[in-house]
Amino acid sequence: MALQDLSRGGFPDGFLFGAATSAYQIEGSGFGSAGLSHWDTFAATPGNVVGGEDGRRACEHYLRWESDLDLIRDAGMDAYRFSVNWARVQPDGQGRLNAEGMDFYDRLVDGMLERGLKPYLTLYHWDLPAALSRRGGWVNRDVADWFADYARLVTGRLGDRVASVATINEPWCVAWLSHFHGAHAPGLRDVSAAAHAMHHVLLAHGRALEAMRAEGVKNLGIVLNFEHIAPATDRPEDVRAAAREDAIYNRWFIEALTKGTYPAEALAGLERWMPGRWQDDMAGIRAPLDWLGVNYYRRALKVHDPDSLWPAIAETPGPLPKSSMGWEIYPEGLRHRLAGLARDHVGDLPIYVTENGMAAEDSVLGETVDDAVRLDYIDTHLRAVQAAIRDGANVRGFFYWSLLDNYEWAFGYDKRFGLVHVDFATLKRTPKNSYHALARMLRRNE
Ligand code: FCB
Repeated sequence: MALQDLSRGGFPDGFLFGAATSAYQIEGSGFGSAGLSHWDTFAATPGNVVGGEDGRRACEHYLRWESDLDLIRDAGMDAYRFSVNWARVQPDGQGRLNAEGMDFYDRLVDGMLERGLKPYLTLYHWDLPAALSRRGGWVNRDVADWFADYARLVTGRLGDRVASVATINEPWCVAWLSHFHGAHAPGLRDVSAAAHAMHHVLLAHGRALEAMRAEGVKNLGIVLNFEHIAPATDRPEDVRAAAREDAIYNRWFIEALTKGTYPAEALAGLERWMPGRWQDDMAGIRAPLDWLGVNYYRRALKVHDPDSLWPAIAETPGPLPKSSMGWEIYPEGLRHRLAGLARDHVGDLPIYVTENGMAAEDSVLGETVDDAVRLDYIDTHLRAVQAAIRDGANVRGFFYWSLLDNYEWAFGYDKRFGLVHVDFATLKRTPKNSYHALARMLRRNE
């Protein structure tokens, strides 16, 4: 059975196992005098989220955080990746501090330490204060300074106790998905806004690194998302479309961070829409990282779309088994990505798989939640990590996405990624079979 032949012994010494969540998806943004974020306003606008659902209550983690941390400890995990809601600590995005919000994260971090869990902090997992969104958000160059101030504020309070700090979660989603596809807050579909956001998100990362380093905060990184992108056919136009998608999705951020350049295939369409003198910012953007976070879920097949303007890419369903997001399951892509990043971009820099997991149609029978497909997914992806380590990647940890079933953004509460089932009527937590199997694995050393 899946996970039975795996143990800690199959991973390098000190390899960390953990689970990941994010603030908006679990806490309940309505609690604790938090300011509004652009996810609150996006979700309140008709047509943006399935069923009009929002994160005002979510999993009520804001009230139930102690027993949620117990679940992580009881699974035998080593670390917990969580994020801070910017609008909870700075309701207007700048200036005024909400002490109640900062105290919450203070207690949360202490709660992790009391349970022997290493806190892996992410500063930005998408909850931009609505007050900043109204001033242009990621499209406004000032966002870099707003974010650096916020980073300094949060790490000034928590930096002495967290094991690591990530600036931004998934800049592709922050910029492209949200300003070009319009699928996430702020829901724009504007190539110029997208080009500005693609650059400003990296500028903000660089400024925040600089600000935190000046204060002596250690172990700073960023979390990028990657997909295994391939052409659906070997027709030259499909091969070129897949290469364009690869440049925008997989190469834009890592090449800027490690080489100080943007890929030509992406600049071909974006350069005329970029902010002026963007080249002058590249030196700050490529400031050294202490580690890299990799989120990986799936393979995606691309074709040329003759009816569309640049970048003229469409996606087509592939033949592999899929998660309930419709995402093709392809563990080889994770091995390939980790090994390729080590070889081509980051060398020996520590890499963490900061998210990997799947949404499934779990079957709930009393206290038992059968999620055999998820178990299999975890098994095959952990083996892919082992293979990448054999190939030479310095992978130091793996965080399952997610601890709990939660608010899956524009999909609302329908898509369940958790190791722990959440009944959204009662908010009762029930560990799934995958949780129990992972806990057994984490107790084995040989
Ligand atoms: C990632 C996000 C995370 C969650 C998973 C399924 O893109 O970082 O919040 O939505 O996908």
